[in-house]
Amino acid sequence: MIRVSGLDKVYETAERDAVRALAGIDFEVREGEFYVLLGPSGCGKSTTLRCIAGFEEPTGGVIQIGDQVVFSGVDGINVQPARRDFGIVFQSYAIWPHMDVFHNVSFPLVHGQGSRPPRRVVRERVMRVLELTQLQDLADRPAPFLSGGQQQRVALARALVREPSVLLLDEPLSNLDAKLREEMRVQIRDITKRLNITSIYVTHDQLEALTMADRVSVMSAGKIMQEDSPLEIYKHPAGRFVAQFIGVANLIPGLIESVGDGHMGRVATAVGVFDCTLSGGLRGGDPAALMIRPEDAVVQPEDRKEGSGNVVRGEVQSVVFVGEMLDCILSLSGLDLRIKVHPSKTLTVGETVAVHVPPERCHAIAGTA
Ligand SMILES: Nc1ncnc2c1ncn2[C@@H]1O[C@H](COP(=O)(O)OP(=O)(O)OP(=O)(O)O)[C@@H](O)[C@H]1O
Ligand SMILES: [Mg+2]
Repeated sequence: MIRVSGLDKVYETAERDAVRALAGIDFEVREGEFYVLLGPSGCGKSTTLRCIAGFEEPTGGVIQIGDQVVFSGVDGINVQPARRDFGIVFQSYAIWPHMDVFHNVSFPLVHGQGSRPPRRVVRERVMRVLELTQLQDLADRPAPFLSGGQQQRVALARALVREPSVLLLDEPLSNLDAKLREEMRVQIRDITKRLNITSIYVTHDQLEALTMADRVSVMSAGKIMQEDSPLEIYKHPAGRFVAQFIGVANLIPGLIESVGDGHMGRVATAVGVFDCTLSGGLRGGDPAALMIRPEDAVVQPEDRKEGSGNVVRGEVQSVVFVGEMLDCILSLSGLDLRIKVHPSKTLTVGETVAVHVPPERCHAIAGTA
């Protein structure tokens, strides 16, 4: 439904050196898919979205929305935003304070590109999206008398009223408080799925990406580092950047000892030998970092402390009770291992414990830790 290939963007500025915001971005979004661009501030997420919308002219590459090539550097195609088939929602709601909810939402229908539909059709379509966004009872409410969450829903309704085939969202929840953000995450995904609308959602919040996305692209410095389902990205990050950007990752330096079947292999580290999954392309003798997520390290019962493989012993350095778990740091001959432990367990600072990590729950990535 959306195809972006070789997308490049260089910002030329008078005051400072040119900025290469995008360095050859490629991705495709399938029809009805909820696709998330995730990455730290300045990595080029908004630039990508703005290029798709046509608010920014790329330096090179091709962008296709449905059957329409909307930008092609080589062919000199650059379709103006009003002629591209999308709705967009920004972080700032950008709704008009002097209008009520109904008129904010009907605005693109009445004043947008193309002929103005009859009044009855406008009313029907506005009421349909107001219902979808649970605003039907607020149609007459002036915009200044809306809460943040309601204003963001008005912005969403307005983006949907022309029934675009593509919805672009740039950090739409950043201005909302945590509780409301959580609710809106579910609502936005639910609405786009019900309409089978193809969505690209930009965020720097890993939790939004993990909970909302069908697929995620993790970006850094104008490039896509990895594209996959949230679960795959979390369990099998392709490299150090992705491992550390999403969730908490312990990284232990080592060397690949052997490569087995089905992405399994063995890594030798200073704290022991581990059977684990391997990122693509790793071979025997390669330097690697063994990634262990805190929730995957299981404290062994007393009588099983001398287990075989995938076990490390360490001294408890700190224990912090954070409600649903104990956040602990173990010291393993100079290395720190952060682990999550069920709060029913008692761990004492200074005691030595053994922890086991199942082979399918630890993962080796390329490079030194
Ligand atoms: N109009 C502009 N002129 C010059 N440089 C720009 C312009 N817009 C963005 N940049 C630069 O391009 C890079 C990418 O910016 P972009 O806004 O796409 O990042 P982002 O990933 O959306 O970040 P954030 O999470 O902070 O919104 C940054 O280095 C930024 O400073
Ligand atoms: Mg941005």
